[in-house]
Amino acid sequence: MGYPETRPRRLRRTPALRRLVAETSLEPRHLVLPMFVREGATEPRPIASMPGVVQHTMESLRKASLEAVEAGVGGLMLFAIPERKDAAGSGGVDPKGPLNAAIREVVAEVGEATVVMADLCLDEFTDHGHCGVLAPDGSVDNDATLEVYGRMAVAQAEAGVHVVGPSGMMDGQVAAARAALDAAGHTDVAILAYAAKYASAFYGPFRDAVESSLVGDRKTYQQDPANGLEALRETALDVEEGADMVMVKPAMSYLDVLARVRDLVDLPVAAYQISGEYAMIQAAAERGWIDRDRAVLETLTSIRRAGADIVLTYWAVEAAHWLRAAR
Ligand code: PBG
Repeated sequence: MGYPETRPRRLRRTPALRRLVAETSLEPRHLVLPMFVREGATEPRPIASMPGVVQHTMESLRKASLEAVEAGVGGLMLFAIPERKDAAGSGGVDPKGPLNAAIREVVAEVGEATVVMADLCLDEFTDHGHCGVLAPDGSVDNDATLEVYGRMAVAQAEAGVHVVGPSGMMDGQVAAARAALDAAGHTDVAILAYAAKYASAFYGPFRDAVESSLVGDRKTYQQDPANGLEALRETALDVEEGADMVMVKPAMSYLDVLARVRDLVDLPVAAYQISGEYAMIQAAAERGWIDRDRAVLETLTSIRRAGADIVLTYWAVEAAHWLRAAR
């Protein structure tokens, strides 16, 4: 008798036992809420492919930032949609542009009660929808883009941002942002580098959210989903260039990459559960095919288990409320 001798089920028997031996924790402070603000908007506008997420007005953005602070989230990541886009993406550099204005408003509202971050990229601001400026042949001009990112980083720092998030996958973007920030005296603004960012189909709803006019794809700068080692090279480069934190994006299809990046660096590691990851769970839940709340917590916990210290997710505030209620 006594077979089987080893019974792992013993430690799963009660909720208290399961809680005692849980290896991974998920707390509101681990979560960062991405937020969109639309220049000139007078009403928050729902984003069709991201039910529950809106393009904020400046006013609703301020309110929502306060709610996020009250929920205890670790940070906010701001994106903006300008009224007019142009080839150079000049709305991103303009101190009065919508993203820089939003940073000012949000920082004035929340102070240092949470970490205010901003996307450092041109795709929301360009009429062609690419993450950089274009060369005469239509390709994305890496080095000309770096110069613009530098000016954009300084504009965001001057607006009061705590962390900039270069996300355009241009070579040298972290070094360019660091050099520009330091030269302007913003040595204390941190860089969250989108170190390993893949050319993913799951960005689809985001393109809707920022009204992107992109024709074609981003495969000449974002990574091929087939490559894992390349993510480690990209991450090592960003660390050398002065990143303070590194990110893997998307999250759920790249948990292996996330785990390897976690092993590689001793900096905080973030993962971005992107728009398409959000949309597919929302859509399945709307049809009654999965239990939304459980699915959300399972994915967030899995992303933490794979190695993320920080998780960017559109469910940040909602999940933070659940986590607090479950205490
Ligand atoms: C680039 C950027 C993108 C996202 C965050 N920063 C779009 C892209 O690279 O195509 C996507 C976020 C999401 O899909 O939720 N500015």
